[in-house]
Amino acid sequence: MSIYDEAYYNGGRGAYKRYVYKDSWKKRAKGNMDAFPDAKSFMDVGCAKGFILRGYVELGVPIEDVYGYDISEYAIKEAESVIKDQVECCSVFDFKPTRQWDLVSAYDFLEHLPTERMREAVKILEDSSAKYLHIMLMVEKADWDTDESHVSIMPLEEWLKFFSFELIESSRDFPHIEMAKFKRV
Ligand SMILES: C[S@@+](CC[C@H](N)C(=O)[O-])C[C@H]1O[C@@H](n2cnc3c(N)ncnc32)[C@H](O)[C@@H]1O
Repeated sequence: MSIYDEAYYNGGRGAYKRYVYKDSWKKRAKGNMDAFPDAKSFMDVGCAKGFILRGYVELGVPIEDVYGYDISEYAIKEAESVIKDQVECCSVFDFKPTRQWDLVSAYDFLEHLPTERMREAVKILEDSSAKYLHIMLMVEKADWDTDESHVSIMPLEEWLKFFSFELIESSRDFPHIEMAKFKRV
């Protein structure tokens, strides 16, 4: 049984008390559309219930230009109804992109993967992207973090070694999180 089950998202275990859609997802989608104005198609890896994808669609992105996948059967089953046909239950290590998206994002995702497979995972993200990546990187373990699936936490310099895309900008979000923008070279 997957660790990313209902209890992971709705309390008792993992990072969330109640994993429900909030307007902040639409703000994040808008932030990406503003920061990457020439990005017209969007893919989110480790998308869970597809909250950011719903944000893009509500902001006018055509449904066929958003996509996401996640290993959690529970999260994909509970995905937001508007994007239900645009999400897939799949591990990053099994994903075979059949097209590219202008912007590929991954939030609170890479730290869940084993460090020894990080280059492989990042390459799959990069192969899926025509232009940009927007990635959340966990650079420190927060005091309150009890999520045992956070298995890869390292300084930014270590994270950057896995990427062949060029870093455009990086900013510290919370004390333990770096938000990094990359472009294809
Ligand atoms: C902490 S959640 C983040 C969900 C969402 N990105 C967010 O920011 O709210 C981590 C997600 O990564 C997914 N995940 C973990 N390992 C994965 C893998 N190998 N392939 C695809 N998804 C994976 C989990 O199912 C979970 O939904």
